[in-house]
Amino acid sequence: MDVMKDFEISVYGLGVMGSSLAKNLISKGFRTALFGKSQEERERFHAQGEFTVFSSEEEMIKSLKRPRVIFMMVTAGSVVDCVIDGFVPFLDEGDILIDGGNSHFKDTQRRCHTLLEKGIQFLGVGVSGGEKGALMGPSMMVGGSEKAWKSCGHILEKMAAKMGEEYCCSYLGKEGAGHYVKMVHNGIEYALIQLIADIYSVMKKGLCLSRQEITEIFTRWKGTELNSYLIDITAGVLAKNDIDGKPLVEKILDVAQQKGTGSWTLEEAIARGVYVPTICEAVFARYFSVDQQLRKDGSQVLKATTKPMILENYEEKLKDALYLGMIVSYAQGVALIKKASEDCGWEIDLPLAVSLWREGCIIRSELLKDITKALKESDKNILLSQSFGNLGRREEALREISAKTIEAGVAAPTFLSVISYYDSCRTEKMNVNIVQALRDCFGAHTYERTDVKGSFHTLWMEGEK
Ligand code: 6PG
Repeated sequence: MDVMKDFEISVYGLGVMGSSLAKNLISKGFRTALFGKSQEERERFHAQGEFTVFSSEEEMIKSLKRPRVIFMMVTAGSVVDCVIDGFVPFLDEGDILIDGGNSHFKDTQRRCHTLLEKGIQFLGVGVSGGEKGALMGPSMMVGGSEKAWKSCGHILEKMAAKMGEEYCCSYLGKEGAGHYVKMVHNGIEYALIQLIADIYSVMKKGLCLSRQEITEIFTRWKGTELNSYLIDITAGVLAKNDIDGKPLVEKILDVAQQKGTGSWTLEEAIARGVYVPTICEAVFARYFSVDQQLRKDGSQVLKATTKPMILENYEEKLKDALYLGMIVSYAQGVALIKKASEDCGWEIDLPLAVSLWREGCIIRSELLKDITKALKESDKNILLSQSFGNLGRREEALREISAKTIEAGVAAPTFLSVISYYDSCRTEKMNVNIVQALRDCFGAHTYERTDVKGSFHTLWMEGEK
């Protein structure tokens, strides 16, 4: 029993992500205690080597050196509260609980406060990278108790992916700051994935390219400025055949699942009034995909006057349009983090937050180097930064593709949202003066003027009193 003492950290929850994180910690030389809730979890781990797997919370906590550090990797939601409640009676002042799941930032905020009242330090850590990332080094976005970070941050850093000499792991701010940044990471993930799906539609349905041609294009793009994890796996996914030698993707039901973080991002954007149309289209593409009957009926009933799509030099133009789409997706996410940070007083260092995505996570891409640079230069929307001062050629390609996609009758809503976002950002004077006039006309809601300060109401209609 003597060897089962003085563990530096413990991992609670040995599902896919928890197991990988535990192995990651052990491979980095940290004395790690594990907790397996079920017999099956414990046996699965024992079968893989010399691991110490506890089945009692009390025993596991007693085996840890002080301050005790417990990394929880359980499904977000009420389960996290139940697990915390199970630990609290055995914890002492200064002990540290870490939640590495995809928890809602408001839950993290609440847990930070209630645990602090008991003297327990809480960290909400956004962990990205899937199973492989968790094992080899994920991107980790840390929020919560700064005191806890100072005490155990070095362990988290060593677990994380590295970009050069920098760890893709950092403390971003108090309370739910880390989980917020992870939530937005996922919103961007939704946008990038849907942009890829939409450009696939343009290639397949608009340009009538074969699976082989599309796969080759994605494979070539890996060696360009589009180089990113999602482009890389798209090339692999498209190349995969089923046992009968036919493309596997073509056999997958066109109904998308989601666990909720994309919708949370959208809810947050609405609550804070931040315009995120590409994330919005991506989230709704998943909801809309569920209504198969509407699409089946619509394909029979709704007529479209379409033209064949002719696009010269299409590979280059598609690349430019996708590149601009990616920048715009990051721009929308960054704008949301900035607003939330201001509203909540988190003081998130934006270049630092974005730089954590450069390795280990699902949205890692070459492009993030320039985005980090842009955010260091100025905190303006990244589209306006000097680093992206030369978007002209890409804008032209995106506009042409958007127009021709509409003419061809191919639904590619994320691309239309990107060109709308771009055009909205360059529209100095918007049309909402008309909105204000109409609101005042039917509801006396008043309006402001450009020439005189104050609030005004007009009797708009002839004979109105
Ligand atoms: C990550 C991912 C991960 C997420 C999956 C599935 O960063 O490793 O974002 O946290 O759970 O990508 O998310 P959906 O089921 O919502 O698509």
